[in-house]
Amino acid sequence: MFGLGALLLIIQFSAGALGAGTGFRARRSDAERNEAWEAAVVKANAFVAQLNVTEKANMVTGKLGLDTPCIGNIIPIPRLNFKGLCLLDGPTAMNRADLVSVFPAGLTAAATWDKDLIYERGKALGEEFKAKGGHVMLGPVAGPLGRHQLGGRNWEGFSPDPYLTGLAMQATIHGIQDAGVQSCSKHFIGNEQETQRSNSFSPDSKETQAISANIDDRTMHELYLWPFADAVKAGTVSVMCSYNRMNQTYACENPEILNRLLKEELGFPGYVVSDWFATHSGAKSINAGLDLTMPGVKDIVGLLTQDSWFGGNIPTMIQDGSISDERLDDMIRRVMTPYYFLDQDKEDFPTVDQSLVFTLAASSGLSLPAGTPIIAARDVRADHAEVIRKMGAEATVLLKNVDSILPLRKPMNIGVFGNDAAEPTEGLTFPSFAFEIGTLTIGGGSGTGRHTYIVSPLEAIKARAREYGARVQHVLHNTVVARNDFTGIYPPPDVCLVFLNTFASEGYDRSVWEADWNSTQVVDNVASHCPNTIVVTHSAGINSMPWANNPNVKAILAAHLPGQESGNSIVDVLWGAVNPSGKLPYSIAANPADCDIPVVTAPRPSADSATAWQSDFTEGLLIDYRHLDARNITPLYEFGFGLSYTAFAVSGKLEIERLVANISAVPATFEKPYPPGGNPALWTPLLKISTTVKNTGSVAGATVPQLYLSMPKEATPVGTPPQVLRGFEKVFLEPGEETTVGFELMRRDVSFWDVGAQEWVVPPGTMGLRVGFSSRDQGVRRTVGLRV
Ligand SMILES: *[C@@H]1O[C@H](CO)[C@@H](O)[C@H](O)[C@H]1NC(C)=O
Ligand SMILES: *[C@@H]1O[C@H](CO)[C@@H](O)[C@H](O)[C@H]1NC(C)=O
Ligand SMILES: *[C@@H]1O[C@H](CO)[C@@H](O)[C@H](O)[C@H]1NC(C)=O
Ligand SMILES: *[C@@H]1O[C@H](CO)[C@@H](O)[C@H](O)[C@H]1NC(C)=O
Repeated sequence: MFGLGALLLIIQFSAGALGAGTGFRARRSDAERNEAWEAAVVKANAFVAQLNVTEKANMVTGKLGLDTPCIGNIIPIPRLNFKGLCLLDGPTAMNRADLVSVFPAGLTAAATWDKDLIYERGKALGEEFKAKGGHVMLGPVAGPLGRHQLGGRNWEGFSPDPYLTGLAMQATIHGIQDAGVQSCSKHFIGNEQETQRSNSFSPDSKETQAISANIDDRTMHELYLWPFADAVKAGTVSVMCSYNRMNQTYACENPEILNRLLKEELGFPGYVVSDWFATHSGAKSINAGLDLTMPGVKDIVGLLTQDSWFGGNIPTMIQDGSISDERLDDMIRRVMTPYYFLDQDKEDFPTVDQSLVFTLAASSGLSLPAGTPIIAARDVRADHAEVIRKMGAEATVLLKNVDSILPLRKPMNIGVFGNDAAEPTEGLTFPSFAFEIGTLTIGGGSGTGRHTYIVSPLEAIKARAREYGARVQHVLHNTVVARNDFTGIYPPPDVCLVFLNTFASEGYDRSVWEADWNSTQVVDNVASHCPNTIVVTHSAGINSMPWANNPNVKAILAAHLPGQESGNSIVDVLWGAVNPSGKLPYSIAANPADCDIPVVTAPRPSADSATAWQSDFTEGLLIDYRHLDARNITPLYEFGFGLSYTAFAVSGKLEIERLVANISAVPATFEKPYPPGGNPALWTPLLKISTTVKNTGSVAGATVPQLYLSMPKEATPVGTPPQVLRGFEKVFLEPGEETTVGFELMRRDVSFWDVGAQEWVVPPGTMGLRVGFSSRDQGVRRTVGLRV
């Protein structure tokens, strides 16, 4: 077991509208949610009115120890029948818990481009948290957005495209909260790199502050804040402020982002909770908008080395006037309203599974006091393996398929190569570093989860092959493949499946683009023997693929991090039980440098070394495909791309329906405070675009028509991307079938953030609209002028 150091390390790993057409239906409409929220506010106010100041301090300060089972805890107040709050890490599984499911990562979910399925994933996650007695799931993630291709936590979030991430946030939040669990949208904001994300101390205790993300106003609104606006609009009840500084001020004590942007401009009515150890002040943070600090006060076993900035200091702050009574009550009202809003006060809300103390201890390398009675874990997995398997298959992106080598047609001699095909050999929980032998299903750090099983690719391939009597030969050591040693293989396989992986974890950034473990040598060697090589990647992020154009590499599948059903999901795609319909939620550049914004790895030479870590977001809006488009660089595989076993065409022209007669330049004013999401006029649909999509091939399957919008160059500021994603729908079609797909554009979708006016503005002039099957597909186009 690991010592206390490992424990502290683990704890520091931060605990961490319906689209057009079909679309999931959230349990409550906006209006019903607002009504339920108001009723919950009344209850929260009544609760606050009964508290004394000690209790008030406890309500805004966490407590962590082996006598409190969750990674974040608000202690109960028995005299008021308040049973406390339990916060647990997501966003991909309930971490530090036994008998839970390990789901596909956010990145994988995004690759489905399927709002319904993303909702189902969120709902299943929420059901597991609730069944364990968890009140708050720490997730979903919209920050990091993915500015850096090698960011260590990108896989926890969805996509570097804010529109895709925004809708994935919305669907996930509806899913989690429809299951009766609080979502906590994180990390707010600018936490794009792990390197120096938080403050650090030299051996002589000299403090170096966290990196400062320096983001201009327009970039903030159109890129990094955008998906958080969707999250607030969807009703997320809590938001986690991040480790980093933002414009030189720590995120959790930055009034510009917490009070002004989040609470005022976006009308966020819930609570802001600090990332674990991300609070650096008391009254300053509270007055900036921080409502709850985590992990909280020192506990009996000395889990925490420093006491909280809140806790026992709160009564003093009240006494000396550095915070007001009203503000303290506001904090507690914000913490408690979600609890009533989601009926977590009801008798039938499950009690916290006390077995969580064992997994908390196990994942922290701690022992519980001798004689602690063993408590069996509550099994909350239900039938969630089904949605996991389905999503793993639907998220798989087919990047290359020469000679229609896929789907496989009963090959009798199958070669399987690479460490990623194998059963895990070092346990079923991935910590913060990679294992050499074993398939990769999820990343490391606070966002990981404990498997009860993993279906490895090899296991699933053998099971499939056995059904029709095929031979399966395998070499699982990459070192053996890398030295070109295939003496163990005879006769040569008809088809060679190479499985590669790329690990990433919270706490550090990746350093190379290639998949891990000598991947290029492995692919080159297999391909040199095998003209029918198929490469599958299980990756926590974007990879370069130096072997992509090798003629013997006939097919490539990017399967990301699929969760516990990994092998079943990929076999479903390989043998054609599922027709692949995943699309890249990012671009793969031909040359990594084409699209790279390097992580900052050193402080800036500066007089004040304590504050010298600076990250200037000078590329503005131009990340990922927006950058490639602006520079006219052709990628290897573009954003939105993914092949199918059938073919699709946009068969109709674009129909444009104006939903509002005269479109003004700016939204109608609305008196503050704003409802969740900010000025409602921004969310008003202005246009409906529709066209017809047809399955022109011979196999049933799904595809994703995507709507891209180009704003007029002459009427928008410098740095406006040539095109931005503004709509997508996943549609399933039988061979020959066609259907109409519609995209509604809201005011925000057709506006840019005007820094001078401090407002979203619809530019005059002609907008370009295009519907195609990727960011580079010709598709069908039309232009439209919106303003009269
Ligand atoms: C507040 O109430 C608690 C009981 O929940 C009690 O133990 C505590 O002493 C009270 N504190 C003050 C300052 O009255
Ligand atoms: C950060 O600083 C930039 C440059 O001065 C400014 O445009 C932006 O509005 C600031 N953002 C916040 C949230 O303070
Ligand atoms: C990569 O292959 C080379 C040559 O076989 C070997 O020396 C090296 O240890 C391998 N590296 C890894 C990370 O497996
Ligand atoms: C729309 O604008 C035109 C031209 O400015 C005006 O004549 C018309 O009355 C407006 N219609 C509405 C519904 O506001």
